[in-house]
Amino acid sequence: MPNMKKILFATFLLVVTAGGACMGAVKKPAIVPVPQQITCLDRQAVTLTNGARIHLSSNKALRGMAELFIRDAAREEGLQLKIAEKSAGEIQLSIDPTLSAEAYRLEASEQGIEIRGGSPAGVFYGLQTLRQLLAQYGPTLPGMTIEDAPTFAYRGAMLDCCRHFFTIDEIKSFIDILALHKINHFHWHLTDDQGWRLEIRRYPELVKIGSHRTETVLGNNTSVYDGVPCGGYYTQKQAREIVDYAARRFITVIPEIEMPGHASAALAAYPFLGCTGKNYKVQTRWGVFPEVFCAGKESTFDFLQNVLTEVIEVFPSEFIHLGGDECPKESWKTCPACQKRIQDEQLSDEHELQSYFVLRMEKWLHEHGRHLIGWDEILEGGISQSATIMSWRGAAGGIAAARAGNKVIMSPNTHCYLDYYQTRNPQGNEPWGIGGYISVEKAYTLDPYDQLDEAERPYILGVQGNVWTEYIASVAHVQHMLLPRLAALAEVGWSYDRRDLEDFRRRMDIFRHLYELNGYRYAPYFFTPAKQAE
Ligand code: ACM
Ligand code: ZN
Repeated sequence: MPNMKKILFATFLLVVTAGGACMGAVKKPAIVPVPQQITCLDRQAVTLTNGARIHLSSNKALRGMAELFIRDAAREEGLQLKIAEKSAGEIQLSIDPTLSAEAYRLEASEQGIEIRGGSPAGVFYGLQTLRQLLAQYGPTLPGMTIEDAPTFAYRGAMLDCCRHFFTIDEIKSFIDILALHKINHFHWHLTDDQGWRLEIRRYPELVKIGSHRTETVLGNNTSVYDGVPCGGYYTQKQAREIVDYAARRFITVIPEIEMPGHASAALAAYPFLGCTGKNYKVQTRWGVFPEVFCAGKESTFDFLQNVLTEVIEVFPSEFIHLGGDECPKESWKTCPACQKRIQDEQLSDEHELQSYFVLRMEKWLHEHGRHLIGWDEILEGGISQSATIMSWRGAAGGIAAARAGNKVIMSPNTHCYLDYYQTRNPQGNEPWGIGGYISVEKAYTLDPYDQLDEAERPYILGVQGNVWTEYIASVAHVQHMLLPRLAALAEVGWSYDRRDLEDFRRRMDIFRHLYELNGYRYAPYFFTPAKQAE
Protein backbone atom coordinates (compact mmCIF):
# COMPACT_ATOMS: atom_id res chain seq x y z
CA MET A 1 0.00 0.00 0.00
CA PRO A 2 1.39 3.43 -0.84
CA ASN A 3 2.15 5.49 2.21
CA MET A 4 -0.67 7.97 1.75
CA LYS A 5 -3.23 5.18 1.47
CA LYS A 6 -1.81 3.52 4.58
CA ILE A 7 -2.22 6.72 6.53
CA LEU A 8 -5.78 7.18 5.28
CA PHE A 9 -6.68 3.60 6.19
CA ALA A 10 -5.16 3.92 9.62
CA THR A 11 -7.11 7.14 10.18
CA PHE A 12 -10.30 5.39 9.03
CA LEU A 13 -9.73 2.53 11.48
CA LEU A 14 -9.04 4.94 14.30
CA VAL A 15 -12.26 6.87 13.63
CA VAL A 16 -14.35 3.70 13.42
CA THR A 17 -13.01 2.22 16.63
CA ALA A 18 -12.97 5.52 18.51
CA GLY A 19 -16.55 6.09 17.34
CA GLY A 20 -17.64 3.00 19.19
CA ALA A 21 -15.38 3.15 22.18
CA CYS A 22 -16.12 4.91 25.44
CA MET A 23 -12.82 6.74 25.68
CA GLY A 24 -11.92 10.39 25.29
CA ALA A 25 -13.33 13.48 26.91
CA VAL A 26 -16.58 13.39 24.95
CA LYS A 27 -17.27 9.67 25.03
CA LYS A 28 -16.15 8.91 28.58
CA PRO A 29 -19.02 7.52 30.65
CA ALA A 30 -20.44 9.97 33.17
CA ILE A 31 -21.87 7.88 35.99
CA VAL A 32 -22.80 9.40 39.38
CA PRO A 33 -21.79 8.09 41.86
CA VAL A 34 -18.62 7.09 40.07
CA PRO A 35 -18.26 3.30 39.60
CA GLN A 36 -15.34 1.26 40.85
CA GLN A 37 -14.12 0.32 37.42
CA ILE A 38 -15.06 0.98 33.81
CA THR A 39 -13.36 -0.91 31.00
CA CYS A 40 -13.95 0.38 27.48
CA LEU A 41 -14.35 -2.11 24.65
CA ASP A 42 -13.19 -0.86 21.25
CA ARG A 43 -16.55 -1.26 19.58
CA GLN A 44 -20.15 -0.26 19.89
CA ALA A 45 -22.66 -2.39 21.74
CA VAL A 46 -26.17 -3.36 20.75
CA THR A 47 -28.65 -0.67 19.76
CA LEU A 48 -31.85 -0.71 21.82
CA THR A 49 -34.87 -0.10 19.63
CA ASN A 50 -38.56 -0.02 20.42
CA GLY A 51 -39.70 -3.53 21.25
CA ALA A 52 -36.32 -4.56 22.71
CA ARG A 53 -36.76 -7.16 25.43
CA ILE A 54 -35.54 -7.55 28.98
CA HIS A 55 -34.87 -11.14 29.92
CA LEU A 56 -34.90 -12.11 33.60
CA SER A 57 -33.43 -15.05 35.36
CA SER A 58 -35.98 -16.67 37.63
CA ASN A 59 -36.19 -14.22 40.48
CA LYS A 60 -39.43 -12.47 41.34
CA ALA A 61 -37.76 -9.22 42.45
CA LEU A 62 -36.21 -8.82 39.01
CA ARG A 63 -39.59 -8.56 37.31
CA GLY A 64 -40.64 -5.67 39.55
CA MET A 65 -37.50 -3.68 38.86
CA ALA A 66 -37.66 -4.46 35.13
CA GLU A 67 -41.15 -2.98 35.09
CA LEU A 68 -39.87 0.14 36.82
CA PHE A 69 -37.01 0.37 34.34
CA ILE A 70 -39.41 0.03 31.40
CA ARG A 71 -41.34 3.02 32.75
CA ASP A 72 -38.12 5.02 33.28
CA ALA A 73 -36.86 4.27 29.77
CA ALA A 74 -40.18 5.27 28.22
CA ARG A 75 -40.34 8.53 30.16
CA GLU A 76 -36.70 9.49 29.80
CA GLU A 77 -35.77 8.11 26.38
CA GLY A 78 -39.08 7.47 24.66
CA LEU A 79 -37.91 3.88 24.38
CA GLN A 80 -40.56 1.16 24.47
CA LEU A 81 -39.08 -1.94 26.08
CA LYS A 82 -40.83 -5.12 27.19
CA ILE A 83 -40.17 -8.17 29.31
CA ALA A 84 -39.13 -11.27 27.33
CA GLU A 85 -41.43 -13.99 28.52
CA LYS A 86 -39.25 -16.82 27.20
CA SER A 87 -35.87 -16.94 25.47
CA ALA A 88 -33.23 -14.24 25.43
CA GLY A 89 -33.47 -10.48 25.34
CA GLU A 90 -31.33 -7.51 24.40
CA ILE A 91 -31.08 -6.75 28.14
CA GLN A 92 -30.35 -9.64 30.50
CA LEU A 93 -30.80 -9.39 34.27
CA SER A 94 -29.55 -12.04 36.65
CA ILE A 95 -28.21 -12.72 40.12
CA ASP A 96 -24.55 -13.62 40.52
CA PRO A 97 -23.85 -15.01 43.99
CA THR A 98 -20.12 -14.43 43.55
CA LEU A 99 -20.73 -10.66 43.86
CA SER A 100 -21.38 -8.88 47.16
CA ALA A 101 -25.03 -8.03 47.82
CA GLU A 102 -25.15 -4.46 46.49
CA ALA A 103 -22.52 -4.97 43.79
CA TYR A 104 -23.27 -5.27 40.10
CA ARG A 105 -21.50 -5.93 36.85
CA LEU A 106 -22.78 -4.34 33.65
CA GLU A 107 -21.53 -5.41 30.25
CA ALA A 108 -22.58 -3.65 27.07
CA SER A 109 -21.48 -5.57 23.97
CA GLU A 110 -22.75 -6.62 20.53
CA GLN A 111 -24.60 -9.46 22.26
CA GLY A 112 -26.64 -7.04 24.36
CA ILE A 113 -26.57 -5.51 27.80
CA GLU A 114 -26.06 -7.86 30.66
CA ILE A 115 -26.48 -6.81 34.28
CA ARG A 116 -25.60 -9.19 37.07
CA GLY A 117 -26.09 -8.26 40.70
CA GLY A 118 -24.99 -9.87 43.94
CA SER A 119 -28.64 -9.60 45.00
CA PRO A 120 -31.71 -7.97 43.47
CA ALA A 121 -30.47 -4.67 44.95
CA GLY A 122 -27.26 -4.97 42.94
CA VAL A 123 -29.22 -5.53 39.72
CA PHE A 124 -31.36 -2.51 40.57
CA TYR A 125 -28.23 -0.36 40.90
CA GLY A 126 -27.01 -1.68 37.56
CA LEU A 127 -30.28 -0.52 36.03
CA GLN A 128 -29.85 2.94 37.55
CA THR A 129 -26.45 3.07 35.88
CA LEU A 130 -28.04 1.97 32.61
CA ARG A 131 -30.52 4.87 32.88
CA GLN A 132 -27.54 7.19 33.06
CA LEU A 133 -25.81 5.55 30.11
CA LEU A 134 -28.93 5.84 27.95
CA ALA A 135 -29.34 9.50 28.91
CA GLN A 136 -25.72 10.11 27.93
CA TYR A 137 -25.38 8.08 24.74
CA GLY A 138 -28.88 7.39 23.48
CA PRO A 139 -29.92 3.87 22.41
CA THR A 140 -26.50 2.80 21.06
CA LEU A 141 -24.06 2.43 23.90
CA PRO A 142 -20.31 2.17 23.44
CA GLY A 143 -19.06 -1.26 24.41
CA MET A 144 -17.94 -1.39 28.04
CA THR A 145 -17.94 -3.31 31.25
CA ILE A 146 -18.63 -1.68 34.60
CA GLU A 147 -17.83 -3.30 37.91
CA ASP A 148 -19.26 -1.50 40.86
CA ALA A 149 -20.07 -1.72 44.56
CA PRO A 150 -20.66 0.84 47.31
CA THR A 151 -18.19 1.78 50.02
CA PHE A 152 -20.79 2.35 52.76
CA ALA A 153 -23.73 0.10 53.56
CA TYR A 154 -25.83 3.04 54.78
CA ARG A 155 -26.58 5.83 52.32
CA GLY A 156 -29.46 7.93 53.56
CA ALA A 157 -31.60 11.01 53.14
CA MET A 158 -34.06 12.53 55.59
CA LEU A 159 -37.21 14.50 54.84
CA ASP A 160 -38.89 16.50 57.59
CA CYS A 161 -42.65 16.22 57.01
CA CYS A 162 -43.56 17.96 60.30
CA ARG A 163 -42.51 21.55 59.72
CA HIS A 164 -44.19 21.29 56.37
CA PHE A 165 -46.40 18.49 55.20
CA PHE A 166 -45.73 16.64 51.96
CA THR A 167 -48.25 14.41 50.25
CA ILE A 168 -47.79 10.71 49.63
CA ASP A 169 -47.16 11.40 45.93
CA GLU A 170 -44.54 14.02 46.83
CA ILE A 171 -42.82 11.54 49.12
CA LYS A 172 -42.82 8.99 46.33
CA SER A 173 -41.11 11.49 44.04
CA PHE A 174 -38.53 12.12 46.80
CA ILE A 175 -37.94 8.37 46.96
CA ASP A 176 -37.55 8.22 43.16
CA ILE A 177 -34.78 10.78 43.44
CA LEU A 178 -33.04 8.75 46.16
CA ALA A 179 -33.21 5.63 43.99
CA LEU A 180 -31.60 7.43 41.04
CA HIS A 181 -28.66 8.25 43.35
CA LYS A 182 -28.36 4.70 44.75
CA ILE A 183 -29.41 5.92 48.21
CA ASN A 184 -30.76 3.02 50.26
CA HIS A 185 -32.35 4.59 53.36
CA PHE A 186 -35.19 7.09 53.63
CA HIS A 187 -35.32 8.59 57.11
CA TRP A 188 -38.88 9.87 57.55
CA HIS A 189 -39.14 12.57 60.22
CA LEU A 190 -42.73 12.09 61.36
CA THR A 191 -43.21 13.83 64.71
CA ASP A 192 -42.15 17.22 65.98
CA ASP A 193 -43.37 20.33 67.79
CA GLN A 194 -45.18 21.69 64.74
CA GLY A 195 -47.03 18.53 63.77
CA TRP A 196 -47.55 14.82 64.48
CA ARG A 197 -47.92 13.13 61.11
CA LEU A 198 -48.56 9.42 61.65
CA GLU A 199 -51.92 7.89 62.50
CA ILE A 200 -51.76 5.89 65.75
CA ARG A 201 -55.03 3.99 66.14
CA ARG A 202 -54.91 3.71 69.91
CA TYR A 203 -54.41 7.48 70.28
CA PRO A 204 -56.62 9.17 67.68
CA GLU A 205 -56.07 12.67 69.10
CA LEU A 206 -52.46 12.54 67.92
CA VAL A 207 -53.59 13.30 64.40
CA LYS A 208 -56.94 14.88 65.24
CA ILE A 209 -55.24 17.59 67.32
CA GLY A 210 -51.52 17.05 66.88
CA SER A 211 -51.38 17.20 63.10
CA HIS A 212 -52.83 20.72 62.86
CA ARG A 213 -51.38 24.07 63.76
CA THR A 214 -53.45 27.24 63.68
CA GLU A 215 -50.98 29.19 61.54
CA THR A 216 -47.30 29.47 60.70
CA VAL A 217 -44.81 32.18 61.51
CA LEU A 218 -43.60 34.18 58.52
CA GLY A 219 -39.97 34.49 57.55
CA ASN A 220 -37.18 33.78 59.95
CA ASN A 221 -39.24 33.52 63.17
CA THR A 222 -40.61 37.07 62.82
CA SER A 223 -43.52 38.36 64.91
CA VAL A 224 -45.88 38.06 61.92
CA TYR A 225 -47.98 34.95 61.17
CA ASP A 226 -49.72 33.83 58.01
CA GLY A 227 -53.07 33.18 59.72
CA VAL A 228 -53.53 30.03 57.64
CA PRO A 229 -54.29 26.71 59.40
CA CYS A 230 -51.79 24.07 58.35
CA GLY A 231 -51.92 20.32 58.78
CA GLY A 232 -51.88 16.84 57.38
CA TYR A 233 -51.05 13.30 58.38
CA TYR A 234 -50.42 9.86 56.95
CA THR A 235 -52.74 6.97 57.65
CA GLN A 236 -51.02 3.71 58.50
CA LYS A 237 -52.24 2.40 55.16
CA GLN A 238 -50.48 5.26 53.36
CA ALA A 239 -47.32 4.76 55.42
CA ARG A 240 -47.31 1.08 54.42
CA GLU A 241 -47.72 2.19 50.83
CA ILE A 242 -44.57 4.30 51.20
CA VAL A 243 -42.69 1.41 52.83
CA ASP A 244 -43.66 -0.82 49.91
CA TYR A 245 -42.89 1.84 47.27
CA ALA A 246 -39.44 2.37 48.79
CA ALA A 247 -38.77 -1.37 49.18
CA ARG A 248 -39.37 -1.90 45.47
CA ARG A 249 -36.53 0.58 44.96
CA PHE A 250 -34.33 -1.15 47.58
CA ILE A 251 -34.79 1.68 50.04
CA THR A 252 -35.52 1.02 53.70
CA VAL A 253 -37.79 3.51 55.42
CA ILE A 254 -36.68 4.47 58.92
CA PRO A 255 -39.39 6.29 60.83
CA GLU A 256 -38.42 8.89 63.41
CA ILE A 257 -40.66 9.27 66.44
CA GLU A 258 -39.12 12.07 68.51
CA MET A 259 -38.63 11.79 72.26
CA PRO A 260 -38.23 13.13 74.88
CA GLY A 261 -38.03 16.59 73.24
CA HIS A 262 -39.71 18.07 70.17
CA ALA A 263 -42.94 16.76 71.69
CA SER A 264 -45.30 19.77 71.66
CA ALA A 265 -47.72 18.25 69.13
CA ALA A 266 -48.03 15.02 71.15
CA LEU A 267 -48.54 16.98 74.37
CA ALA A 268 -51.18 19.19 72.76
CA ALA A 269 -53.08 16.00 71.90
CA TYR A 270 -52.52 14.27 75.26
CA PRO A 271 -51.53 16.83 77.94
CA PHE A 272 -51.01 14.11 80.57
CA LEU A 273 -47.75 13.28 78.75
CA GLY A 274 -46.12 16.51 79.91
CA CYS A 275 -44.80 17.42 83.35
CA THR A 276 -47.45 20.06 84.12
CA GLY A 277 -50.28 18.42 82.19
CA LYS A 278 -51.62 21.67 80.74
CA ASN A 279 -51.18 24.59 78.35
CA TYR A 280 -49.69 22.80 75.39
CA LYS A 281 -50.19 23.63 71.74
CA VAL A 282 -48.94 22.56 68.35
CA GLN A 283 -46.21 25.13 67.79
CA THR A 284 -46.52 27.83 65.16
CA ARG A 285 -42.91 29.03 65.39
CA TRP A 286 -39.56 27.32 64.78
CA GLY A 287 -36.98 26.40 67.36
CA VAL A 288 -36.56 24.32 70.50
CA PHE A 289 -39.40 24.28 73.03
CA PRO A 290 -39.46 23.44 76.75
CA GLU A 291 -42.56 21.25 76.39
CA VAL A 292 -41.14 17.71 76.54
CA PHE A 293 -42.37 14.28 77.59
CA CYS A 294 -42.41 13.78 81.38
CA ALA A 295 -39.73 11.25 82.27
CA GLY A 296 -41.18 10.58 85.70
CA LYS A 297 -44.65 9.27 84.97
CA GLU A 298 -45.10 5.64 84.00
CA SER A 299 -47.96 6.71 81.74
CA THR A 300 -45.45 8.39 79.41
CA PHE A 301 -43.65 5.09 78.83
CA ASP A 302 -46.90 3.16 78.46
CA PHE A 303 -48.00 5.67 75.84
CA LEU A 304 -44.74 5.65 73.88
CA GLN A 305 -44.50 1.87 73.94
CA ASN A 306 -48.07 1.62 72.68
CA VAL A 307 -47.21 4.10 69.93
CA LEU A 308 -44.11 2.13 68.96
CA THR A 309 -46.12 -1.11 68.96
CA GLU A 310 -48.07 0.33 66.04
CA VAL A 311 -45.00 1.95 64.45
CA ILE A 312 -43.10 -1.32 64.24
CA GLU A 313 -46.12 -3.01 62.69
CA VAL A 314 -46.05 -0.48 59.87
CA PHE A 315 -42.27 -0.18 59.45
CA PRO A 316 -40.28 -3.41 59.13
CA SER A 317 -36.88 -1.64 59.32
CA GLU A 318 -34.31 -2.95 61.77
CA PHE A 319 -33.69 0.63 62.90
CA ILE A 320 -36.24 2.89 64.54
CA HIS A 321 -35.13 6.50 65.08
CA LEU A 322 -36.20 7.92 68.44
CA GLY A 323 -34.73 11.41 67.98
CA GLY A 324 -33.28 12.44 71.34
CA ASP A 325 -31.99 15.81 70.14
CA GLU A 326 -32.55 19.24 71.63
CA CYS A 327 -34.43 18.29 74.79
CA PRO A 328 -34.52 21.20 77.29
CA LYS A 329 -34.51 19.93 80.86
CA GLU A 330 -36.30 22.84 82.63
CA SER A 331 -39.64 21.12 83.10
CA TRP A 332 -37.91 18.04 84.55
CA LYS A 333 -36.12 20.21 87.12
CA THR A 334 -39.39 21.37 88.68
CA CYS A 335 -41.50 18.24 88.15
CA PRO A 336 -42.02 16.11 91.29
CA ALA A 337 -42.42 12.93 89.23
CA CYS A 338 -39.19 13.55 87.28
CA GLN A 339 -37.29 14.40 90.45
CA LYS A 340 -38.62 11.27 92.16
CA ARG A 341 -37.42 9.23 89.18
CA ILE A 342 -33.95 10.75 89.52
CA GLN A 343 -33.89 9.75 93.18
CA ASP A 344 -35.39 6.29 92.75
CA GLU A 345 -33.01 5.42 89.92
CA GLN A 346 -30.05 7.06 91.67
CA LEU A 347 -29.37 9.32 88.71
CA SER A 348 -27.03 12.24 89.19
CA ASP A 349 -28.90 14.84 87.11
CA GLU A 350 -31.38 15.53 84.31
CA HIS A 351 -28.87 14.43 81.66
CA GLU A 352 -28.83 11.02 83.24
CA LEU A 353 -32.62 11.17 83.33
CA GLN A 354 -32.60 11.62 79.55
CA SER A 355 -30.22 8.69 79.34
CA TYR A 356 -32.60 6.62 81.51
CA PHE A 357 -35.44 7.56 79.16
CA VAL A 358 -33.57 6.55 76.02
CA LEU A 359 -32.15 3.34 77.52
CA ARG A 360 -35.59 2.26 78.64
CA MET A 361 -37.07 2.84 75.20
CA GLU A 362 -34.11 1.13 73.57
CA LYS A 363 -34.61 -1.91 75.80
CA TRP A 364 -38.22 -2.05 74.64
CA LEU A 365 -37.10 -1.86 71.00
CA HIS A 366 -34.66 -4.73 71.58
CA GLU A 367 -37.36 -6.84 73.16
CA HIS A 368 -39.28 -6.31 69.95
CA GLY A 369 -36.39 -7.15 67.67
CA ARG A 370 -35.45 -3.62 66.63
CA HIS A 371 -32.51 -1.28 67.12
CA LEU A 372 -32.36 2.33 68.13
CA ILE A 373 -30.92 5.26 66.23
CA GLY A 374 -30.65 8.57 68.08
CA TRP A 375 -29.18 12.01 67.35
CA ASP A 376 -25.83 12.56 69.04
CA GLU A 377 -27.33 14.21 72.15
CA ILE A 378 -28.20 10.73 73.38
CA LEU A 379 -24.50 10.29 74.13
CA GLU A 380 -24.88 12.75 77.02
CA GLY A 381 -25.53 10.88 80.24
CA GLY A 382 -24.44 7.57 78.71
CA ILE A 383 -25.81 5.17 76.11
CA SER A 384 -25.85 1.45 75.60
CA GLN A 385 -23.33 -0.27 73.37
CA SER A 386 -26.02 -1.18 70.91
CA ALA A 387 -27.34 2.32 70.14
CA THR A 388 -26.52 3.79 66.74
CA ILE A 389 -25.61 7.46 66.75
CA MET A 390 -26.58 9.88 64.03
CA SER A 391 -23.97 12.60 64.34
CA TRP A 392 -25.39 16.01 63.43
CA ARG A 393 -23.66 18.62 65.63
CA GLY A 394 -20.56 18.23 63.54
CA ALA A 395 -18.71 14.93 63.54
CA ALA A 396 -17.45 15.04 67.15
CA GLY A 397 -20.33 12.97 68.57
CA GLY A 398 -19.91 10.39 65.84
CA ILE A 399 -16.17 10.18 66.35
CA ALA A 400 -16.59 9.72 70.12
CA ALA A 401 -19.29 7.10 69.55
CA ALA A 402 -17.20 5.14 67.04
CA ARG A 403 -14.29 5.19 69.50
CA ALA A 404 -16.63 3.85 72.17
CA GLY A 405 -17.63 1.03 69.84
CA ASN A 406 -21.08 2.34 68.84
CA LYS A 407 -22.28 2.34 65.27
CA VAL A 408 -22.47 5.74 63.63
CA ILE A 409 -24.18 7.45 60.74
CA MET A 410 -22.42 10.65 59.79
CA SER A 411 -24.78 13.50 59.07
CA PRO A 412 -22.88 16.55 60.32
CA ASN A 413 -24.37 20.00 59.88
CA THR A 414 -21.05 21.07 58.40
CA HIS A 415 -21.69 19.05 55.20
CA CYS A 416 -25.06 17.28 55.27
CA TYR A 417 -27.68 19.88 56.17
CA LEU A 418 -29.50 20.43 52.93
CA ASP A 419 -31.67 23.21 54.39
CA TYR A 420 -28.59 25.46 54.48
CA TYR A 421 -27.92 27.92 51.70
CA GLN A 422 -25.90 26.78 48.71
CA THR A 423 -24.27 30.12 47.95
CA ARG A 424 -22.02 32.21 50.09
CA ASN A 425 -24.15 35.31 49.71
CA PRO A 426 -27.80 34.26 49.65
CA GLN A 427 -29.19 37.82 49.59
CA GLY A 428 -29.58 37.40 45.85
CA ASN A 429 -32.36 35.26 44.48
CA GLU A 430 -31.53 32.00 46.24
CA PRO A 431 -34.69 30.51 47.76
CA TRP A 432 -35.06 30.47 51.55
CA GLY A 433 -32.69 28.40 53.63
CA ILE A 434 -32.40 28.13 57.39
CA GLY A 435 -29.02 29.87 57.33
CA GLY A 436 -25.47 28.60 57.02
CA TYR A 437 -23.70 27.74 53.79
CA ILE A 438 -23.04 24.29 52.38
CA SER A 439 -22.04 24.30 48.73
CA VAL A 440 -22.00 21.17 46.58
CA GLU A 441 -18.22 21.30 46.77
CA LYS A 442 -18.36 21.40 50.57
CA ALA A 443 -20.77 18.45 50.76
CA TYR A 444 -18.44 16.58 48.41
CA THR A 445 -15.51 16.91 50.82
CA LEU A 446 -17.22 15.15 53.72
CA ASP A 447 -14.92 12.51 55.12
CA PRO A 448 -16.96 10.12 57.29
CA TYR A 449 -13.71 8.51 58.45
CA ASP A 450 -12.08 11.79 59.49
CA GLN A 451 -9.82 11.28 62.56
CA LEU A 452 -10.68 7.58 62.81
CA ASP A 453 -8.09 4.84 62.61
CA GLU A 454 -8.41 1.49 60.85
CA ALA A 455 -9.89 -0.22 63.91
CA GLU A 456 -12.52 2.50 64.40
CA ARG A 457 -13.64 2.84 60.78
CA PRO A 458 -15.90 -0.21 60.67
CA TYR A 459 -18.24 1.52 63.14
CA ILE A 460 -19.13 4.13 60.52
CA LEU A 461 -22.18 2.72 58.76
CA GLY A 462 -22.43 5.57 56.31
CA VAL A 463 -23.70 9.05 55.53
CA GLN A 464 -26.97 10.92 55.32
CA GLY A 465 -28.25 14.25 53.97
CA ASN A 466 -31.07 16.00 55.85
CA VAL A 467 -33.83 18.19 54.47
CA TRP A 468 -35.38 20.06 57.40
CA THR A 469 -38.35 22.02 56.17
CA GLU A 470 -38.98 25.02 58.42
CA TYR A 471 -38.41 27.26 55.40
CA ILE A 472 -39.28 24.77 52.68
CA ALA A 473 -42.96 24.47 51.89
CA SER A 474 -43.06 23.07 48.36
CA VAL A 475 -41.71 20.02 46.62
CA ALA A 476 -39.97 22.22 44.04
CA HIS A 477 -38.11 23.92 46.89
CA VAL A 478 -37.23 20.53 48.44
CA GLN A 479 -35.74 19.46 45.11
CA HIS A 480 -33.81 22.72 44.81
CA MET A 481 -32.23 22.09 48.21
CA LEU A 482 -31.63 18.40 47.52
CA LEU A 483 -30.14 18.60 44.04
CA PRO A 484 -27.36 18.44 43.24
CA ARG A 485 -26.01 18.25 46.81
CA LEU A 486 -27.53 14.80 47.19
CA ALA A 487 -25.36 13.68 44.28
CA ALA A 488 -22.27 14.88 46.15
CA LEU A 489 -23.28 12.99 49.30
CA ALA A 490 -24.25 9.93 47.26
CA GLU A 491 -20.74 9.91 45.84
CA VAL A 492 -19.27 10.16 49.36
CA GLY A 493 -21.36 7.17 50.39
CA TRP A 494 -20.94 5.01 47.30
CA SER A 495 -17.52 6.03 45.95
CA TYR A 496 -15.70 7.26 49.06
CA ASP A 497 -12.12 6.53 48.02
CA ARG A 498 -12.34 7.42 44.33
CA ARG A 499 -13.72 10.94 44.51
CA ASP A 500 -12.37 13.62 42.22
CA LEU A 501 -14.15 16.98 42.23
CA GLU A 502 -13.18 18.01 38.70
CA ASP A 503 -14.31 14.70 37.26
CA PHE A 504 -17.50 14.97 39.35
CA ARG A 505 -18.14 18.35 37.70
CA ARG A 506 -17.74 16.80 34.24
CA ARG A 507 -20.05 13.90 35.09
CA MET A 508 -22.67 16.10 36.78
CA ASP A 509 -22.93 18.25 33.66
CA ILE A 510 -24.19 15.14 31.88
CA PHE A 511 -26.05 13.55 34.81
CA ARG A 512 -28.16 16.67 35.31
CA HIS A 513 -29.95 15.92 32.04
CA LEU A 514 -31.67 13.14 33.95
CA TYR A 515 -32.91 15.75 36.43
CA GLU A 516 -34.29 17.69 33.47
CA LEU A 517 -35.81 14.65 31.79
CA ASN A 518 -37.67 13.91 35.02
CA GLY A 519 -38.68 17.50 35.64
CA TYR A 520 -36.66 17.77 38.87
CA ARG A 521 -35.80 21.27 40.01
CA TYR A 522 -32.12 21.54 40.84
CA ALA A 523 -30.00 24.39 42.11
CA PRO A 524 -27.95 25.95 39.30
CA TYR A 525 -25.05 27.36 41.32
CA PHE A 526 -22.71 24.38 41.02
CA PHE A 527 -23.07 24.49 37.24
CA THR A 528 -22.42 28.22 36.97
CA PRO A 529 -19.55 28.86 39.38
CA ALA A 530 -18.38 31.97 37.54
CA LYS A 531 -21.78 33.61 37.93
CA GLN A 532 -21.86 32.81 41.61
CA ALA A 533 -18.53 34.52 42.17
CA GLU A 534 -19.86 37.79 40.70
C1 ACM B 1 -31.30 18.25 64.53
O1 ACM B 1 -30.93 18.91 63.54
N1 ACM B 1 -31.90 18.85 65.54
C2 ACM B 1 -31.07 16.84 64.61
ZN1 ZN C 1 -41.98 15.24 84.66
